[in-house]
Formats: sequence, C-alpha cells, structure tokens
Amino acid sequence: MSLEHLWNEIRYYMNLEGSIKRIGTKFILAKTPLRKVVNTGIYSRIYEKKIKKKSKKIKPKFIQIENTNLCNARCIMCPHTIMKREKRTMKQEDFERIVENIINNYPTIKRITITGFGEPFADKEIIKKIKFLNEKFQYIEIDIYTNASLLTRKMSDEILNSEVHKINFSINGTGNTYGKMMGLDYENTIKNVSYFLKKKKELGKKFPLANISFMIVRENEKDIENFQKFWMNRADSVMIYPPSDWAGRKKINYSSPIPFRKKRWACGALWNYITVDVGGNIIMCCRDYESEIKFGNLLKENAKEIYEGKDMNEIREKQSRRDFSMPICNNCDNSFDSSMEWWNI
Ligand SMILES: C[S@@+](CC[C@H](N)C(=O)[O-])C[C@H]1O[C@@H](n2cnc3c(N)ncnc32)[C@H](O)[C@@H]1O
Ligand code: SF4
Repeated sequence: MSLEHLWNEIRYYMNLEGSIKRIGTKFILAKTPLRKVVNTGIYSRIYEKKIKKKSKKIKPKFIQIENTNLCNARCIMCPHTIMKREKRTMKQEDFERIVENIINNYPTIKRITITGFGEPFADKEIIKKIKFLNEKFQYIEIDIYTNASLLTRKMSDEILNSEVHKINFSINGTGNTYGKMMGLDYENTIKNVSYFLKKKKELGKKFPLANISFMIVRENEKDIENFQKFWMNRADSVMIYPPSDWAGRKKINYSSPIPFRKKRWACGALWNYITVDVGGNIIMCCRDYESEIKFGNLLKENAKEIYEGKDMNEIREKQSRRDFSMPICNNCDNSFDSSMEWWNI
C-alpha cells in the first residue's frame, strides 16, 4: 500500500467515523504486526471483561435495511448468486413503518445503510426513501452501497440534491476482468460513476463521501495497481480488501489467506446494529444473506420487544462468554472488526 493510499484511507475514516481514538485503534490493530496480538488469549480475556461491564447499557446505533434484494449483476464472490429466498423490493409504506418503529424506540440510531443483498438502485423508489429519511430524520446519516450500473444521471442529480453521507461504488476490476467479476458492462459503470464524481465536484459538495471498493480474489488480483492508479485521485477513498466467504457458505478463491477464522470476541454487530431484510425481519447480521436467523418482524412487532427480547439477548449473552456455537457465528470470518472498541461508538 502506498503512503498516498494510506493517507486517503485515514482522511476518509476521519470523515466517516469522527473519533481519532477509534480510527487510531483500527489502523494500529489492522495494519501492523500487532494484529497477531489481537488473536491471542490475553487480548481476548481483557476484551471479555470490558464487554461484560459495558454491554448491558448499549443501545443500537446503526440500521442496515434491505430496500431490495433484486440485483442485475452476477458477482462471483457475492452470495446473491446462491441466495434462495424470494427476491423483491420493500414497499415505501413498509420502509417508513419499519424505520419509524426502530427510531421511535431507539433515538440512539445515527446511521442508516440502505443496502442489503441486492442492488439498491434496482428499487425505483429509492430516492423517495432517501427523501423520507431526510425530511423526517435529518440528523441521521445515510449510506448506500451500489454497483452503479443503474445509476442514471437523473438519479445522481437527485442524490446530490439530497443528504446522503456516503456512497460506496463497488467496482471489482478493470476492463474485461470487471465483466468477468460482476457480469456488468465496464464502460457503462465508469460513465455513471464519472458523471457522479464530476457533478459532485462541480457542486463543491463534501458529501456524500464517495468511496470505491474492490474485493481482491485470485481472479482480479492483477488489476489492483491499475485500479488504484485510476481511482486514487478521482474518489474520496479507495478501499481494497479481501472478501468474506459468508460463514463458509460461499467458495472464494482467496488471493491471500484470511487472517482470522476462529472467533474470539463477542461481535459488536449484535449490539450496535439492527439488520433488517426485505421482508421486515430483524436478522442476525450482515452475514446472514439467507435470513436464516430471524428474531422478529418489524411490521408486526415493536422493535424494542425484538431487540431486547429473549432470543437476541440469549445470543449476546453466549457471545459475551465466548460461546460461538450458533449458526453463522460458528464459522464467521468477520471477527477482526469486532475486536475494535465497538462499545464506545
Ligand atoms: C452485497 S453488495 C449490495 C450492494 C450493491 N449491489 C453493491 O454491489 O455494492 C454490498 C457490498 O458487499 C460487497 N461484497 C460482495 N461480495 C462480498 C464478499 N464476499 N465479501 C465482502 N463483501 C462483499 C460488494 O462488493 C458491495 O460493496
Ligand atoms: S452487484 Fe452487489 S448485490 Fe449484486 S451480485 Fe454484485 S455484490 Fe452482489
């Protein structure tokens, strides 16, 4: 990683997360030999004590809501290609009811990610959903992850006219590799993203922060240098990282070995996040692409009854004593981020 890339990432996280302590911890733990210490028994025991002490008072801060699970792409590392549940889009009225249900119970919510296991812009009413949030909950940050293939000029203009905090363009290759990785047209995506970035610059807007993400696998590893060169000075940040294998459910041709498999720490996602699928169910977390573990439905139940209910608390309690025997957690590869001081967010 070049110094320029590192600096871009730091600047991006400063804008995104605000807390220097957290960013510092994240960088030191992720980018230095200290990452080995994080995976030891000593570290996890200190961590366990802290969690037991702090976790009872934690309320959710983030919502991830699946406005649609329809997708026009075929990314080789994405679980969408193996997902069996029904594909559809969330109705506007259901989206509004769900968000209100959560926020009325938890004014602690500070960010909503309008993305699940689908392409958010396959939802014709996504702009209406953003506008609803902007009008009703101005203080809440909105994030979106998109493959940008459906991002028309009109949509870009509308996004830039509203309040969105971050937009992540997922572009996992250059030229022909891109087509093989995502099953989409490279020129069309570049045209869409370039328009968005040009327009953002013309308007002199700092937000949405525009990130370009790239998942490294064997199939695209040779593209990294060209990719970085191309995007470095165009977007606010370029993130290059290894993919998940969705708790062992999707075969991935890793470019380098994944750092952790065995979970060692209770996962912040269970406390900090409310993850909602297209049907309104609160599900386990962002790894649960099949909605395998449903805790309750926000169109039928009160968010508090679900989030503070027996089932969610039981999993949290198990995790607090480092019991990861439940499905998904038992083979999750997302343990690294959970080692950050997530109770302080
Ligand atoms: C599931 S997609 C949904 C949103 C949108 N369709 C997109 O591609 O950005 C959300 C993010 O997950 C990323 N993703 C796909 N496969 C992944 C994997 N195996 N591990 C981690 N992230 C992955 C995508 O690149 C994207 O940035
Ligand atoms: S565009 Fe997004 S949701 Fe669709 S297959 Fe690719 S990563 Fe998955």
